[in-house]
This record gives sequence, C-alpha cells and structure tokens, in this order.
Amino acid sequence: GTPELQPPKFPSVKSLSESSALTSIPSSYTFTTDPNQHIASDPQDSIPVIDFSLLTSGNPDQRSKAIQDLHRACEKWGFFMVINHGVAESLMKGMIEACRGFFDLTEEEKGEFEGKPVLAPIRCGTSSNTSLDKILFWRDFLKVFLHPQFHSLNKPPGFSEVSLEYSQRIKKVVEELLKGISKSLGLEEWYIDKAMNMSSGLQVLVANLYPPCPQPEHAMGLPPHSDYGLLTVLTQNEVGGLQVQHQGKWFNVNLIPNSLLVNIGDHLEVLSNGKYKSVLHRVVVNRKATRLSVLITNGPSLDTVVAPAPELIDESHPPAYFGMKFQETLTLSQTNKHHEKSILDQVR
Ligand code: SIN
Ligand code: FE2
Repeated sequence: GTPELQPPKFPSVKSLSESSALTSIPSSYTFTTDPNQHIASDPQDSIPVIDFSLLTSGNPDQRSKAIQDLHRACEKWGFFMVINHGVAESLMKGMIEACRGFFDLTEEEKGEFEGKPVLAPIRCGTSSNTSLDKILFWRDFLKVFLHPQFHSLNKPPGFSEVSLEYSQRIKKVVEELLKGISKSLGLEEWYIDKAMNMSSGLQVLVANLYPPCPQPEHAMGLPPHSDYGLLTVLTQNEVGGLQVQHQGKWFNVNLIPNSLLVNIGDHLEVLSNGKYKSVLHRVVVNRKATRLSVLITNGPSLDTVVAPAPELIDESHPPAYFGMKFQETLTLSQTNKHHEKSILDQVR
C-alpha cells in the first residue's frame, strides 16, 4: 500500500524541560516581545466574585443580588471566581492529580493519543496546533470529551472515575450559572439551557501543563485567545500564570483558594448578541515551578446552530453575528491559528 504521511512529531515541553542541559529555550519557542510587559495590578479593580450559595438559595432577595452580580461580572470582565460552589476540595485536587498522573506517563504511553484530529474524543499534544503554530507554546495538553458521551481514559489508574464525577459536578454548577445568566439577560431561566440543547451539550476536559522554563521572558504558555463554547470552568494548582485582558491591560489572575474560575465563551457572546463578550486571556510561564490547569469547556450540542437570541434583537440592537453550527466553528478553529478571537472573526 501507499505509505501514510506522518506529521513530524514534536517533543513534549515536559521532556524538553527535564533535559538537564537546558539553559535556554530552542529558537522555535522564542517570542521577540516580553509577555510580562504591561501588567496591571489595581487592587480596587479585580476579577469579580460570585457567591454560588446566594444564587441557589431559596431566598429571592439573595438570588436577585447574585444575578445582579453575575450581570456586572459578565458585562465588565467576562471572568469571575465562583465561591461556595459545593464541589469538594478533594475532588478538585483529585482531578488535578489525575491529570498530573497522565502527564507523568512515559512519552511512549502518551504517544497513543498524539496527532489526532480536533474531534477525536481523547488526544494529547504540545503547543496548540503544531501544524499551524509558527512559534511553539511552552505547554503540553490533554483533551478528553466527557459529555454527551463519556470517554474513559484508562491511564493513569483512577483517571476515569475522577473525571466522571468531576464533570458531573461541574455540569450542575454550569446549569445553575446559565440559569442565572439567562435571568441577567432578561430571559426565562432555562432559556440558554434549552436553546443550546445542553442536555446533549459538548463538555470537554482540557488539562494544561506548563513546565519550568529557563527563559520565561522569551516564551509564551498560551497566546492571547478567547474560548469557544458558552462557559469555561477552571481549576489550577498553586502556580499562577493566567492573565486576563481588561480595559486594554493585562491582569494577573490571583485565584481565591478552592474557587472555580469561570469565563464567557464565544458562543455565549453570539447568543447574547454581544451583550456579554468573550474575553482574551493568555498564560505566561516561569523559571521555577510547573503550572497545571484543568478546564472544563461547556458548549451546546454539536449540531446546534448558535445565533443571537431573537429576544435580544430590536431596532437599536440588530443582529451582530451570523448564526453558525457549533461543530463547524470547532473545525474552523483547527484551520485558524489559535490566537485572538479567530472563530468570531468568521461569524461576524
Ligand atoms: C486556557 O485558557 O486554555 C488555559 C488557561 C490556563 O492554563 O490557565
Ligand atoms: Fe482559554
């Protein structure tokens, strides 16, 4: 038969970082601008906090306060920290450790999941998209589809169990947040859930590993980008590095211990007709410590056409986006570079 064309294989950043002689980064990873420039740290202006227990309390006054808080957070930042969410600390830590266990497998063991297409239910790799990235990012990743069909990753031991429990708990939190966000947009509370077919919504786990980097000022963990989908929910180990753009400046994310960080995705921007925007964020790396983040992305079902909600359209608010099938935006994101708001550029 004809020999299959194999794409060149890129070593993981983990293996690079662990090679003892590494005192500088290979030129394929070198950015010319310092990603740490222009960091704002205004203590008066930081990522909003949402008290989940108020949102779900039976008390109507507390609930409407939480919905107002959500409204402000979505409008002003597109990012918020959720406290009192009820997801056990041990489960969050267990999920992070299970992902660490995956990255600690041998390169050969991980190889089974490398070089897969974007809709492959289990895949891992390095950078973002090695066939498009001109400069490589200092990041290894694992992606596992958890809903509507649960995909079981059989190594390391225990990964499958903890990812199932974690995904179900996060799905419940997201359901409540989307109810609150619907209300905050003046819609009926189940509006987004129904319009986006969340009962068969796509939920993907994305684990990111950012090993220590000998020249952090010349490398980038992840470039500025927004997320696809409706809401992304993040937990991380104790090592920072995530930065969020707000009013033209970059802010370091200092996560309240045990809180969940939530941000608005491109498809919620479209559905809300631009009332709530997906926000650019990026990851910088450091010399000493390994950052590990675990994200659960929550999107509509693959066949849902996402378009501005008719209820949010009137003479002074004409539709600002074209409708597009969720699945098509996912495959588009694979032919575009992972930067800025590349998916939205296509639908605008
Ligand atoms: C991402 O935005 O995809 C990753 C964020 C992080 O590692 O904190
Ligand atoms: Fe992201």
